[in-house]
This record gives sequence, structure tokens and C-alpha cells, in this order.
Amino acid sequence: MASSFPSVSELVAGARHQYGKVFGEEAPLVAVCAPGRVNLIGEHTDYNQGFVLPMALPLVTVVVGSKTSEQDVTVVTATKDVDEPVRVDFSLPSDGSPLSPGSPSWANYVKGVIHHYRAPPVPGFRAVIASSVPLGGGLSSSASLEVAVYTFLQQLKPDDGEKVAKALSCQQAEHTHAGVPCGIMDQFVSVLGKEGHALLIDCRSLEATSIPLTDPELVILITNSNVKHSLTGSEYPTRRRQCEGAASILGKASLRDATMKDLEEARDKMDDVTYRRARHVIEEIERTVQAAESLKKGAYREFGRLMVESHNSLRDLYEVSCKELDELVSAAMEVEGVFGSRMTGGGFGGCTVTLLQAGAIDKTILHIKERYNGTPTFYVTTPSEGARTLSLS
Ligand code: GLA
Repeated sequence: MASSFPSVSELVAGARHQYGKVFGEEAPLVAVCAPGRVNLIGEHTDYNQGFVLPMALPLVTVVVGSKTSEQDVTVVTATKDVDEPVRVDFSLPSDGSPLSPGSPSWANYVKGVIHHYRAPPVPGFRAVIASSVPLGGGLSSSASLEVAVYTFLQQLKPDDGEKVAKALSCQQAEHTHAGVPCGIMDQFVSVLGKEGHALLIDCRSLEATSIPLTDPELVILITNSNVKHSLTGSEYPTRRRQCEGAASILGKASLRDATMKDLEEARDKMDDVTYRRARHVIEEIERTVQAAESLKKGAYREFGRLMVESHNSLRDLYEVSCKELDELVSAAMEVEGVFGSRMTGGGFGGCTVTLLQAGAIDKTILHIKERYNGTPTFYVTTPSEGARTLSLS
């Protein structure tokens, strides 16, 4: 009943086929992939230097291709969401000047990663990109594309292999070439994700602790609302600014350094919206640390309770949920065997993540389908490995 998605090897086979069609007989020499992610808890805390608890998904972006002797780049997408493959050609500037963003917008991620690659200059190449991460679905299709392209470039011209620096370069690509002032969570977990584990990432020190998540009695269900409200683009930078404003009123470098006591004491120095944004962040950072402890102990009920608190806070204080996500969470919580459910990612559409007993999966999917006023897509997922090279033999 859950959606099936192509395996990594199926994506590679599709991309190779496309490569042959576009570039003739010659076979690609390099294949890599980088995963999308789902965040279990810790939302809108990364750019406040707080904690997040995501895991890498088996949904990935694949890049296959080869270096060329020219200074030109040709990239073709073979994504299932796009009927006709789209081809983009551009020349690499010889003086290191930035590649300007343009159309199609997905190519901006490629250009941004080339620009921020840590061992310039990048050689010319030909590549085909294929992805099983739903586009714009809140599962970090863009971070998986950035990290996949970076991993591909590492095969053409190695950098020092430093993984956190790699994630930071990909985040920079998103800032400068997609115009999204995102935090570090998505790129970090796409690079450093670990099979069978969630990652508790400290977004201040950029250190991560991996927490095992392989209990066969537990299922992680992602439900895509299949809606995307246009607010996302403008609201994200606004939230970020509001948080920075709150931190500065509190005299802190970031909200990570603030307590609820600090906030209550300064309440009359800020407007109500700023107060509510800051309260979400301060409490969410605390919830995330607690949730990681619960997960380590196998205290799933406790974990689930924190997920629901997180959702309610995102809905009421941070105001980034929407009626579709609220509906999906309420429906999931009505089913016996569900521990917790919440919106995941930036908000205003996209997906929810639900933790439940393995035995309850069928009835949960059925119930959500019945109750949701839309057409959801379901993914039953397991924590997967971060970006990696793939064999072409
Ligand atoms: C998006 C951003 C992340 C993070 C989440 C919200 O996914 O890319 O950096 O801020 O939203 O938690």
C-alpha cells in the first residue's frame, strides 16, 4: 500500500540508458548517489545553532557521467517527475567568476556546487541526473542534488575529502544559487547519514551522534500531503530574521544560548510574534535532546509525545504548518499503535513523519487515506547511508 520507489541500481540503470541516448555509445565512468532526508524532530532549529534529529532516506539522487577534455558542462535530468529529459549546457568560466543562476532552476544547484567546490577549477563533464526524491516534497530533494553533484565532482577531481566542509559548501550553493538561506541539516545528513541510524546533529559544533534505529517492531512512515503552498519561499527567510531579532533582543549570539527564563524575562521587550517564534525554537531544541534520549532507551511513547508537541508548536507558535499537514497528523494519531506524528521539513506542505508499531502499518495507511481530503503518497522507510560512489560494473 505504501508507494514503491526505484532502487539505487534501477536509477543508475535508467541514468546510464539516458546517457547512452544523449551522448552516444560511450559509457559513463563515474556513478554516485546522495540521499534525501526526513527529520524526526528538531524543526527550524538548525539555523538557530540548535539540535536536529534527521535520518538519511533510501530515496536518492544519482549522478552518472564522465570528465571531458573541454571546459564545457552538459547535464541532463532523467527524473521521473519530468516527462522529457531536460538538457542544460554551459561553459565553465576560465577566470573562476561565478556561474550565474538562470533557468531551468534545478541547474542552479549544479552551478552553485561547481562554484563552491573546494578543489577548483572543476573540469568539464557530461552527466545524467536521476532521482527518487519527490521534488519539492520536503524531503530535501535539493540538498540531495547538491551533495550528489559534489560527490560526483570529487570523483573527477578529488578535494581533501573533509565531510563537514563538503556539507557547508553545498549549503553555500543553496544560499547563493537558489536564494534559500537554509540551515545545515539537510546537506549534513545527506553527506554523513549512517545506515540504521538517526543523527543527532549539534548545529553549533557541527558534531553528530548516531542513534541506532533498527528495531524491527518500529516503522517510520512518511506521508506526502502532495501540496506545496507558495508561502515557503518568502516565509522561511522571514522566520530566520525573526529568530535573529529575538536573539539580539536577548543579547545572545543565537537562540541556542537562550533559556525560557531569559525569554520570559524579556517578554515585554518584544512583540508577540517574535516571542512565539523564539519560544518554539528554545523549546524545540530541548525537545530534540530529550527525544534523542528517549530513542536511545527505546521509549517510543515518550518520543511520540514529543513529536506531537513539536507539531503543535510548529502549528501554533512558529506558524509553518497548514491544514493538510494538520489533517494528516490528526488522522495518524487516531490509530492504535501510532506513537507520534508531525510535519517534517520547512513546512507549508510537503510531508509528515509518523512513528508506529510495525503491526499497525496497514490500518494506519488505510485510516489516513480515508480521513485525508487529498491524495497522499506513503513511504515506509529505513535510515540509510549518506552520499557514496556506486559501482558501474
Ligand atoms: C528546510 C531547511 C533546513 C531546515 C528545515 C526546517 O529543510 O533546508 O535547513 O531549516 O527547513 O527545520
